[in-house]
Amino acid sequence: MEEVGRIFGDVGLGQFQLSLAQPVERGDYLAVVDELHGSVLCQLDDLRRKSDLDLEHAGAMQPTDETPIHESLLGAARIVGYRDGQGLVKIPTIPFRPGAHVYRAEEPLIADVLGLKHHSNTGAYVGLLRNHELRIELDINQLVQRHVSVLAKTGGGKSYLLGVLIEELLRHRVTCVIIDPHGEYGSLRVPAEKNGVHAKFGVEVQGFARQVQEYSPDVSLNPSAKPLTFSLRSTDPRDLLIFMGLTNVKTYLAPLKQIIENVALTNPDYTVHDLVRAAEAGEGAVAETLHERLEYVDQTKLLGPKGTSLNDLVKKGEATLINLRGVAPDVQELVVARIATTLFENRKKDKIPPLFLVIEEAHNFAPQQGSATCSRILKNIASEGRKFGLGLCAVTQRAARIDKSVLSQCNTQLILQVTNPLDLKAIAQSIEGLTPGMTEMIQSLPVGVALVTGGGYHTPLFCEVRPRATRHGGESVQIVAA
Ligand SMILES: Nc1ncnc2c1ncn2[C@@H]1O[C@H](COP(=O)(O)OP(=O)(O)OP(=O)(O)O)[C@@H](O)[C@H]1O
Ligand SMILES: [Mg+2]
Repeated sequence: MEEVGRIFGDVGLGQFQLSLAQPVERGDYLAVVDELHGSVLCQLDDLRRKSDLDLEHAGAMQPTDETPIHESLLGAARIVGYRDGQGLVKIPTIPFRPGAHVYRAEEPLIADVLGLKHHSNTGAYVGLLRNHELRIELDINQLVQRHVSVLAKTGGGKSYLLGVLIEELLRHRVTCVIIDPHGEYGSLRVPAEKNGVHAKFGVEVQGFARQVQEYSPDVSLNPSAKPLTFSLRSTDPRDLLIFMGLTNVKTYLAPLKQIIENVALTNPDYTVHDLVRAAEAGEGAVAETLHERLEYVDQTKLLGPKGTSLNDLVKKGEATLINLRGVAPDVQELVVARIATTLFENRKKDKIPPLFLVIEEAHNFAPQQGSATCSRILKNIASEGRKFGLGLCAVTQRAARIDKSVLSQCNTQLILQVTNPLDLKAIAQSIEGLTPGMTEMIQSLPVGVALVTGGGYHTPLFCEVRPRATRHGGESVQIVAA
């Protein structure tokens, strides 16, 4: 093993300081040989260069001054642990000795203590341990049973990483439903253009056209999708007002109910068109508005006699995209509420396979402040979904703005760069095992590096996200041509 430094000063049970003779990066793995337990894995959490140059002398230095400066590299490391005879990860109960040698940890020790497995049957391969050739595979059962959050600032790589995760779930034939507000995930059908990075990560490019189906409430804007419709009969008049874009419930609810009652009396199989005709006959400003908005709903074809059938919407081993591009925010909320409720109710009765429900832009659908039509059902799924094999994946650029109870129920977190102090605080509060050093590192993570917590691992891991096998659909729009 390559020696990099020695332990000095007061030595604690969970961490120690070391003087470094070799440059080591923050986050790198180290090893200390313990008399009782053999090699113990540690991780560099902080680094500091100490010098004898004080402020006064630095200020007085001339540009040509070559006076030697004595400096030393100091580090703070945390102890990750060792595997005991029963295969459990333990931390030594006696502190290391000051003066003990510290080595760069070798890959077999890292893989053993971190519990990294290669090509496991239940693993979703998301990338390599940073600066190593070791695969990070997240346990799919844990992901689906215990929920996932993907957190990063805008442009941090959330959708890219989620794409990686969905590819893995599709390879393992896990059923997924993806709420896709920007219509980004249709590109899962198309293989990526192969490049050198694919070989480094051992990824074969591949499209999942046969396992991806797409629905949208607005097929004129999203022609690749099949129409998503809901049954008019099971639509509550209040929800109908939302589809109509009318927020003034006090003014419109009673007259709308009246129209529905009148029409249903003579024709129990009424359509939106029948409601339009009935509203047309009414007089006054309210009736006029109802008529105009019902006409609009009729044109959207969102509410039909039967609605999209559950068997069409959820197919075992496939991903269903709910493309909400161009759909008004309150209608999006209603669509999410109806879909999430249907999935939860039918999962309880075991009428559909266990599945993974992905909510992109989750801060809009389960906000911490205010409420969305779908907040309650999403909170229910977060707290109870696991009992019924309904996994939730919340993706957000604003960790501080998503409902805290949803965030704290996510036991696997995939965190990319986050710089907003409020979001960092929310993350630090909802995740166990984050050291202050890690929280600091989250602020400067390069694109493509994620901090992974949970997913079957006992300690947070820095992961170089593997390249997509499929094309990424969330490319930034070029404002000025290169
Ligand atoms: N692992 C990666 N490897 C290579 N490029 C990446 C990676 N992750 C992200 N990118 C690039 O970074 C850009 C932003 O990524 P992405 O669309 O995933 O961000 P986002 O966090 O979803 O942003 P938004 O909040 O705007 O939705 C994309 O152009 C993508 O190609
Ligand atoms: Mg995105």
